[in-house]
Amino acid sequence: MARSPQWHPLAWSSAGVVVGIVAVLLTTTITGLVSNPDDLEDGPIVVLSGRDDSIDGQRQKLISQWNQLHPRSPARIVEASPIADATRSEMLARAQSGRGEVDVFNLDVTWTAEFADAGYIRSLDESRVSTSGFLAGPLATCRYGGKLWALPFNTDVGLLYYRSDLLDAPPRTWDELEDKVQEMRARSGNDVDGYAGQLADYEGLTVTALEAIRGAGGSVVDEDGNLVVENQRAAIAAGIERLRVIAPAGIPELDETSSVRLFQSGRALFMRNWPVTVRSLPQGLEGTPAVAFGVAPLPGGAGVLGGQNLAVSADSTRPRAAQALIEFLTGERSQQILFERGGLPATRQVVYFDQAVRDRYPYIATLEEAISSAELRPAQPHYARFSDVFRAAVNGYLRHDAPLPDDLQDQLVDALKGWLAPADDG
Ligand code: GLC
Repeated sequence: MARSPQWHPLAWSSAGVVVGIVAVLLTTTITGLVSNPDDLEDGPIVVLSGRDDSIDGQRQKLISQWNQLHPRSPARIVEASPIADATRSEMLARAQSGRGEVDVFNLDVTWTAEFADAGYIRSLDESRVSTSGFLAGPLATCRYGGKLWALPFNTDVGLLYYRSDLLDAPPRTWDELEDKVQEMRARSGNDVDGYAGQLADYEGLTVTALEAIRGAGGSVVDEDGNLVVENQRAAIAAGIERLRVIAPAGIPELDETSSVRLFQSGRALFMRNWPVTVRSLPQGLEGTPAVAFGVAPLPGGAGVLGGQNLAVSADSTRPRAAQALIEFLTGERSQQILFERGGLPATRQVVYFDQAVRDRYPYIATLEEAISSAELRPAQPHYARFSDVFRAAVNGYLRHDAPLPDDLQDQLVDALKGWLAPADDG
């Protein structure tokens, strides 16, 4: 079910040409990349977004650059909650209010179908918006029902962080990962414990569990988005069982930030987290030295694709300016800055082929490998309900010894069809 981004088959000699192009992009002005400023509506553009986790607030810096270039259509980011599920609720509430307060939504890849289906965002006219040069996986998350609804701002994929002072190399299989966890527990008297995944009851647990299930050779949906729980039941149970064994003692309620804290405190051998953490981890906790770490794709390339997509709000009164801003933020130059300075995984191929970037950030090869084998979550309007129902089963198994429900397949089918409305959608 992995869908690989289609890399341009560039030889390294031609990649050298690309380096040159990117260098030029970094030094030229941006005006050439966006629509004629005279065509844009005047007035402020509001971007509603989750927390900017980039190093030194690079999203805001790009917005400031836009504002210098487009003083008559200045943009402003309004930040919602840092937790994915709460961000979604806040965005839905603003969209449903119909007050036109938001011009651009920065949507998680799993919400694009929902906002499109509900009529909260406008489709983009592909004869006027160029989609060439984006990675295929992230771009696919912007499509729904045969239309393009957004452009990919940053991509994301689960990576394995490991203590490089305690291990010579990352485990290549989940069996090996589990063995290392058990060895380290024995060696350290349980001082250095397991795999700090996102284990709290929110979207992060859905992702962590989907990855563990993939690691056990299973899946919940096939490539066409059909649910395949019935014939995958054993692998699904095996994946969650593995997670229970490797999770730190007591299965703590970790989100992305508290996983980092646990890993940084030296008490976890492994962590599952998004790529931006490669840049934030070396900064250490206040007053404590940073832990020595390495980063690798999850064993077997089991990562799930995440990321955020920028879409024009249906009730924006400045849709041309909003779209131009989106093109600016997803353009090659902005993408290069977001990755190089901010650590957010770029959605444009050219950044991954830049030799200077590869030299400075060698882990970009790991990132590229992980993105190319990543699995997409179902792109359907009722995904959030699906995720809730799936997570209830995961939580039951993980925390309460409950077997997977006999009718899990039916429950998930009903959820995806929208027959069970999510509590916060009403
Ligand atoms: C990150 C990912 C997003 C995912 C979320 C879960 O923000 O980019 O896709 O849903 O984490 O917490």
